[in-house]
Amino acid sequence: MTQETPRPIDFFNNEDSNTTDNPTFDSVLGARLSRRNMLRGGASVAASAVLGGAAVTGCATGAGDASTYSMALPGEKLLGFPAVAKSLADVVSVPPGYKVDIIYALGDPILGNATPFKNDGSDADFDKRAGDHHDGMEWFGLSENGQPSRTSVNRGLLAVNHEATTDEKLSSFFIHTDGGKSTLPRPAAEVDKETALHGISVVEVRKTGDKWAYLANSSFNRRLTQQSDIEIAGPARGNRLMVTKYSPTGTKTRGTLNNCGTGLTPWGTFLTGEENFAGYFHRTAGDDARRNNDKSATSLRRYGRGQGAASRHGWETGGTEDKYARWNNSKIGTSADGSDDYRNEMNGQGYVVEMDVYDATKLAKKRTALGRYAHESAVFSKAVAGQPLAVYMGDDARNEYIYKYVSNANWDPADANPANRMNAGDKYLDNGKLYTAKFNADGTGQWIELSLNTPAVKNYTTYPFADQADIAVNTRLAADAVGATKMDRPEWCAVNPKNGEVYFTLTNNSNRSLTPTGSSQLLPDASNPRVYTDMKDGKPQSGNPNGHILRLREAGNSPAATTLTWDIYVFGAEAGAAANPVNLSNLTDDQDMSSPDGLWFSPYTGICWIQTDDGAYTDKTNCMMLAALPGQVGDGKQVTLNYPGANGNLAVQTQIGKAPTASTLKRFLVGPAGCEITGVCETPDGKSLFINIQHPGEGTAMAAISDPAKYQSQWPANAGYGAGKRPRSATIVITKADGGRIGT
Ligand code: FEO
Ligand code: CA
Ligand code: CA
Repeated sequence: MTQETPRPIDFFNNEDSNTTDNPTFDSVLGARLSRRNMLRGGASVAASAVLGGAAVTGCATGAGDASTYSMALPGEKLLGFPAVAKSLADVVSVPPGYKVDIIYALGDPILGNATPFKNDGSDADFDKRAGDHHDGMEWFGLSENGQPSRTSVNRGLLAVNHEATTDEKLSSFFIHTDGGKSTLPRPAAEVDKETALHGISVVEVRKTGDKWAYLANSSFNRRLTQQSDIEIAGPARGNRLMVTKYSPTGTKTRGTLNNCGTGLTPWGTFLTGEENFAGYFHRTAGDDARRNNDKSATSLRRYGRGQGAASRHGWETGGTEDKYARWNNSKIGTSADGSDDYRNEMNGQGYVVEMDVYDATKLAKKRTALGRYAHESAVFSKAVAGQPLAVYMGDDARNEYIYKYVSNANWDPADANPANRMNAGDKYLDNGKLYTAKFNADGTGQWIELSLNTPAVKNYTTYPFADQADIAVNTRLAADAVGATKMDRPEWCAVNPKNGEVYFTLTNNSNRSLTPTGSSQLLPDASNPRVYTDMKDGKPQSGNPNGHILRLREAGNSPAATTLTWDIYVFGAEAGAAANPVNLSNLTDDQDMSSPDGLWFSPYTGICWIQTDDGAYTDKTNCMMLAALPGQVGDGKQVTLNYPGANGNLAVQTQIGKAPTASTLKRFLVGPAGCEITGVCETPDGKSLFINIQHPGEGTAMAAISDPAKYQSQWPANAGYGAGKRPRSATIVITKADGGRIGT
């Protein structure tokens, strides 16, 4: 969801859910003191120990220049396509020789007897249709006889996140005939549509000849909506914090909400991250006092739900039925444990959820050991026999943290194809250690364990933790306690298959400042070093408006390492902006971008795909996707960003990667008007790339609902897909006319 546009909805889709008063440990020290050289030793450890030989072609030692790595096939040139120009057109633009097909859009029928989508606001049955705001997505191959397959290239399942809806005031207006009711109480029928549009869909897709299409009647098709039963797993299962009227034993909840980034487990299940969940809940004024201002009130405030806060859609006003009442997060019952109301309901959201897309008989599970925050993607370290698995994750809100989870169990390759995939999830994702990252100014860093074994957590007086379940549910407070580094909105992460390094997009942060006021604004620091003003439509945008991508290397390439080295791979910027402190990566017109968000390394081609969800550069170009061939941590240099006059002539030292060249970073795609580009997966031959176009036409005013000429976008109808002219989020597939791999 674009989070910097000036629409009222942004309050709810809330990158500002961080309300901590915790001081920043890094910002002042990191900015001024250290001038030591970056430690390069850790960055030259051979990658071959982790990677083995198979996935890496031409990788001699694992270390060295990017040019020593190649996953190109003989005769193939990675990034051989001409860069796509920036564009404001209401189309999907790709290089010559590439083809775009729209295959699966909002409202498409996938279950039962759902009717063709009319796209005029009269459609119902959204629990039998594609949801809205297609986001993260993963590919699950199927053999010709319908068995899970890691090699199939023409039949598979797409598991698609449906993050949210395009809103104005309270209403998801494009799916209601007249735009819906934007005052309280909300009509039950409108709430039922909106809750069904959020969640997950699993849909079968097949390629016949050179044409991909989804199958409306596949027995694999499936939806998770806000009514779906989901199990609580891990340390919080059965804990008092999870007790609700629906689940007095604290073992279940309903629905998965605001699903953003995704992940793929080594045993073949789907992971989905619950992001901006807090805004969907309502708390009445006076609720803190009814809770005796106890720890639960501290927790709710830290997670962005102050008392008296309105909810994003007013779903709690749909009626007296339980499916509406659950969205009222207030203490209204008389029980001691919360089993007669929904005071604890919000504790059921904010996790990484695991789902076996091949087996609808298995309930999805919330993996609470990975912590509760505004989750994006969840990406595994390379699975190595006999070593634990690490899962890397970010918390997307301004000044929030980066995390990793390390399994207690060591990887057993026999688990790559287990008899029961969810049991493998129980083994690796319910028992482990959770860490948060601290990035030092000299290019080193630490992973700090979030458990009662860490004195700063055990002794934290702001929120005295009872046990590991309390830490799993209130992870942000534990990370506050240990002084983790506050980041510029951690979005997706990705692991480079060539060397195991971990990349994090830091999408932007309007709360970096040279003159911070209040507890929410921070000075720049080494890992979030930029503060500048960019102009958009004549208006200034301050802080770090264009974002950057940080990468790290674990000490010894070990997933369980507690130390690391890092640098900044690339800084988003407009071409032509001042080199220091803005366009530090020297981006050209073929490369410039703002607000990197989706991030994925193809394991087949090794290309790093970067997707944007931007509100800062949209006066000049729609959101985009770029292809990159990055080097490695430490291949660049130290730079000092000077901020004369600020805080006694502030100087911020950081580490920047080797600047991209015309052959290592190129724009590949530009989307239609008002969209975000997100979600990316590929068939194992590297020849069909699936991506999602989210919220085209997001800037449309609700008042224009009856006049398509006033829509910001009419995509995908204007590309020949489906009825009506209302814009729809959709999955597209990109293929190459010559049958080659995508990105060559
Ligand atoms: Fe849903 Fe942070 O993007
Ligand atoms: Ca600008
Ligand atoms: Ca995102």
